[in-house]
Amino acid sequence: MPDLYAVFGNPIAHSRSPWIHAAFAEALGEAMRYEARQAPLEGFSAAARAFFAAGGKGCNVTLPFKEEAFRLADTLTARARAAGAANTLKAEEGGLLGDNTDGAGLIRDLESNLAFVISGRRVLLLGAGGAARGVILPLLMRSPASLVVANRGADKAARLVEEITAFYPGGASFSGGGLDGISGAFDLVINATSASLAGEPLPLPQGVFAPGSLAYDMMYGEAETSFLRQARALGAARGADGLGMLIEQAAESFFLWRGRRPETAPLLRARIFRAD
Ligand code: ATR
Repeated sequence: MPDLYAVFGNPIAHSRSPWIHAAFAEALGEAMRYEARQAPLEGFSAAARAFFAAGGKGCNVTLPFKEEAFRLADTLTARARAAGAANTLKAEEGGLLGDNTDGAGLIRDLESNLAFVISGRRVLLLGAGGAARGVILPLLMRSPASLVVANRGADKAARLVEEITAFYPGGASFSGGGLDGISGAFDLVINATSASLAGEPLPLPQGVFAPGSLAYDMMYGEAETSFLRQARALGAARGADGLGMLIEQAAESFFLWRGRRPETAPLLRARIFRAD
């Protein structure tokens, strides 16, 4: 029997993770199965425990269970601890290891696939929920000039910045506030809100995209997301959706489970716009 892996979420039907991991496993000749499993909203821990008791080797965890996965893990990697959320669990002898590969996935997509240099740049992160939380410290560790976290609820952004500051040795200017308080121009604007899922535009001011800037939506879909449409209209030089991040975080999880790093380039397709 091939080793069993899964992704847990709710909803989960549209997840691309089974497709990505099947492609990795095939390319590397690894004997594994990877399934999408919907856990009840109040039942993630029970579902995950049953999965591992039945011999599951590892799983990914997506919305809305990443914080519960963090609490379920017996041991945590440093990056999971800093994020306060786990997107990857692995069965180990001493119990379940919780990791968070989201931040590494985003950084790798920005740097390797999109050739974006974070160091010295002005970065705006929209949103202060679970998606934002995992990527803040990895972004700070690349030494941007500044990182502003802007959220519809300003207090939540301020609290998140305060929490992460405890893990951050300092360097970049790092602050949080409301979407309505955004001022100045940014070289990189990342959408970590769920607004584009509902197709709702964000209240972004004119001039928020600096010349040559990159708009990055952590969401992805068949069509251009509403955030990328909005970014294009506001003058972003290029935009990318979150499919690259999804593929890169999957590769990182695969490496944790199997000790082998799959190539991601074959899976990355056109998901980028350039305003020329
Ligand atoms: P996730 O884990 O995906 O981040 P979440 O914790 O529910 O999910 O957070 C969703 C994020 O999207 C939050 O930052 C939320 O803002 P609030 O904290 O103010 O609720 C943001 N969000 C959702 N819908 C939005 C909208 N229509 N406009 C602006 N922000 C929105």
